[in-house]
Amino acid sequence: MATPSVPWWRDAVMYQVYLRSFRDGNGDGVGDLRGARAGLPYLATLGVDGLWLSPCFPSPQHDHGYDVADYCAVDPLFGELDDVDRLLADAHALGLKVILDVVPNHCSTEHPRFREAVLAGPGSVARERFHFADGHGADGELPPNNWRAMFGGPAWTRIQEADGRPGQWYLHMFTPHQPDWNWRNPEVANHFDDVLRFWLDRGVDGFRIDVAVGLFKHPALPDSPDPAADEEARDAVNPLAWNQPEVHQVWRRWRAICDMYTASDGRERTLVGEVAVPTPADQARYLRPDELHQAFYFDLLHTPWDASAFRQRIGAAMRDIASTGAPVTWVLNNHDQQRTVTRYSRGAVLGEKPDADRGTARARAAALLMLALPGSAYLYQGEELGLPEVTDLPPEVLTDPIVTATGEPDRGRDGCRVPLPWSGTQAPFGFSDAPPERSWLPQPGWFARYTVQRLRGDGGSCWHLYRDALQLRRSLSPLHDPGLHWLPSPPEVVAFARGGKFVCAVNFSDAQVTAPVCGKPVLSSLPCDDGKLAANSAAWWLVDNPPHACGQCPPSHETVDLTVTWKGLGD
Ligand code: BGC
Repeated sequence: MATPSVPWWRDAVMYQVYLRSFRDGNGDGVGDLRGARAGLPYLATLGVDGLWLSPCFPSPQHDHGYDVADYCAVDPLFGELDDVDRLLADAHALGLKVILDVVPNHCSTEHPRFREAVLAGPGSVARERFHFADGHGADGELPPNNWRAMFGGPAWTRIQEADGRPGQWYLHMFTPHQPDWNWRNPEVANHFDDVLRFWLDRGVDGFRIDVAVGLFKHPALPDSPDPAADEEARDAVNPLAWNQPEVHQVWRRWRAICDMYTASDGRERTLVGEVAVPTPADQARYLRPDELHQAFYFDLLHTPWDASAFRQRIGAAMRDIASTGAPVTWVLNNHDQQRTVTRYSRGAVLGEKPDADRGTARARAAALLMLALPGSAYLYQGEELGLPEVTDLPPEVLTDPIVTATGEPDRGRDGCRVPLPWSGTQAPFGFSDAPPERSWLPQPGWFARYTVQRLRGDGGSCWHLYRDALQLRRSLSPLHDPGLHWLPSPPEVVAFARGGKFVCAVNFSDAQVTAPVCGKPVLSSLPCDDGKLAANSAAWWLVDNPPHACGQCPPSHETVDLTVTWKGLGD
């Protein structure tokens, strides 16, 4: 949606293609590059600006591709290098950007460098590329420190040395199959420079950076002050393992590489980081003009369905991130989180029964809210279908390493990764030519209500809501304004204006309320009577006069002026 003078990534809506579940092009039950390429016209019709492709690199798939064995090749499961080239060419011909997922914090135990390190022995140059250390205890039988892995269990695994005896330990902040690189070794940084150039030379428009708060660990690897908290949280908490000051050097270096490519051909590249840090102000430090272009703002994703919480989180992002000149990158769904429809189906009262219709209404409203905010937004495949989480996958089909590590099926992420339903009335719903039992995760029969084919034929469907919102987002000039202006509203409503002419209001309550402006909305997530906003719904209006000129609107609950002036790159 970018206007010519604004780099595309500042307000792009990107679509996350989770490759193994998007579309299967070779009939083996796993989505692949050929399938993704076939789905490009669909993305162009939906109206997104581009796609983020989850990892397609050679990998033993212990963490579904986030355990990379070779950063500059394609796993045969997904196709071959030529398929990436073809996908890039087709996407660009359709006006879609493509960003790849790069995983710099850790690789796979099958990466040749790690294998070499295991064979090379203690003290070798090869072991310096990772975090190998002797254990404590009489025979080194205790891990070097008390760090816990993100998916549960100790963050250290002991290897067997070449002579068959138990030897050193290596650090892995995720599964034991994912050894962490030692970024204090300059060879590691050089290697990743080459990886970036390899893909930039092939034409990618940027990278989504996995665990961008990782990479550097405290040089002395001391004990964590609270290992139980580190393990409990899904976000990066251990203050010695994450968010170390040295990581910013890497982002400066990567930015310089991207900028060089942009300077050479005028095509803007983006780096969007997975930056889960305690506060928005912490995140802004990753978004300084010579560091990452973007970072996912997970605070909104983690916000419960509550007007004051949403207002607070949006306000904090505008105040602490947007005001620095960096765009906020909004996200409500991804391949690691329970889908919004299911997440929002729970009532505000603890123990209240989940209600699927309420979840759907709220997810639609949240989408309109997110797409009305200044900045960029990332959608996760299936979000545009209003797809709920599959919460009852049988335990024997679960594949998420979190389930293996914790023994807790409820913590797993398989439920949001079930292959997409495209068409038809039974599995595999056009996802694959293979029989349904070959799909890497089974699709439930109720997916029939959510197929692309069915929703495209229904003007009131979630798919049409997303497409209409994306079209308006492009065409309405007030939505190109970089700021937002809170409007007075009752406590259960969030309302803001943009560009003086556009109003978005969201009703977080279970009852209809008076709309903050009069007149018919240009778009609403549920049918709206004139002057009303349905329960759990959102609407967009175009207004000629500043809101509240009609004199009939509800009394002011608060007025906060958060209009932000975009300072531009380099300011
Ligand atoms: C990815 C996850 C992955 C983890 C380890 C993340 O943040 O999004 O899917 O399991 O990194 O690589």
